[in-house]
Amino acid sequence: MRRDEAESETPRPSTLAPVPAQETSVRPVELRGVSFSYGADPVLEHIDLSVEQGEFVALVGPNGSGKSTLVRVLLGLLRPDSGDVRLFGSSPQRLRERWRLGYVPQRPALTEIVPATVRELVSSGRLSRTGWAGRLDPDDRTAVDHAVKSVALWDMRDRPLSSLSVGQQQRVFIARAFASEPDLLVLDEPIAGVDADSQKRFRESLVHLVSEHGAAVILVSHELGVVAQDLARVVVLKRRILFDDSPATLARSGVSLGVHGEDLPLWLESLR
Ligand SMILES: Nc1ncnc2c1ncn2[C@@H]1O[C@H](COP(=O)(O)OP(=O)(O)OP(=O)(O)O)[C@@H](O)[C@H]1O
Ligand SMILES: [Mg+2]
Repeated sequence: MRRDEAESETPRPSTLAPVPAQETSVRPVELRGVSFSYGADPVLEHIDLSVEQGEFVALVGPNGSGKSTLVRVLLGLLRPDSGDVRLFGSSPQRLRERWRLGYVPQRPALTEIVPATVRELVSSGRLSRTGWAGRLDPDDRTAVDHAVKSVALWDMRDRPLSSLSVGQQQRVFIARAFASEPDLLVLDEPIAGVDADSQKRFRESLVHLVSEHGAAVILVSHELGVVAQDLARVVVLKRRILFDDSPATLARSGVSLGVHGEDLPLWLESLR
C-alpha cells in the first residue's frame, strides 16, 4: 500500500515525453522544412539541418542572414511558422533535461542586475545539471574552476559581473556553458572581439567537449581561423542554406577559412 502511494507520487513520464535511454542515440538537432518570419518578410525558408553527436559545425552568413534567428528556432526560443524542429528526438518544448543544452547568446543580457560574481554565474551552469536545489559536490566545483580557468578569468573569479568588460562578460557566459558539459552547445558569435590567447583556450575547451564528451557544437562566427582544423562542417545561411559540407569542400570552391579567416568574411559579403 505504502509502496503504491510512493509510486503514485512519482511523476510519471507522459506518453509524449522522450525516453532518456533512447535519447542518447538520437540526433542532437534535426530541422525539416523550417520557415520563420518576424513580420511579412521571410527570415528563414525551408531549412533542413541535422547535427550528429560529436559533430562540430560552423554556421556562417552575412549580417542579417538569419543565423541568430535559426539558433533561437532550433533551441525552441522561437516557434517556426512551418516545419519540424527536434532536439534529441523531442520537440524543444518537451525536452525535459534542459542541462543537455548549452547556449551562449550573441548578446548576453542582465549582467547589470544580476548580483553575481564570475564563479557564481559559472556555477549556475553546473547547477542546471543537479537542479537548483542541488549542491555542488567536489567534482562539480572542479568542473566550475576548470571552466573559469579555461576562459582565463581565474584572477577575476570573485569579482561581480557588472565590474567586467563586455568581452570578459561574454567569456563568463562561455565558461558557464562549458561547466554544464552539455550534449549540445550552441554559441552565437562568442569570440567576436576576444583576444588571440583567449581564442586559443576557447578552441581547446570546444575540442575537449567534442572529442572527450561527444558533444555536438554549433558555432556561429565570422572568425573561424582558430577552429578551421576542427570543424566537421560549415553551413552557410542566407535565409536558405546555401552550402552545407566540409571545410575541405568549401576550400575546393575557392573559399578558405584561413589561419586568420581572411577569405571567409569577404566571400560572405559577396553573398549579399
Ligand atoms: N526581434 C526581431 N524582430 C523583427 N525582426 C528581427 C528581429 N530579430 C531579427 N530580425 C530581423 O531578422 C533578420 C535576421 O536577423 P538575425 O539576427 O537572425 O541575423 P544574423 O544572421 O544573426 O545577423 P548578425 O550577423 O548581424 O548577427 C534581420 O533582417 C533582422 O533585422
Ligand atoms: Mg546574429
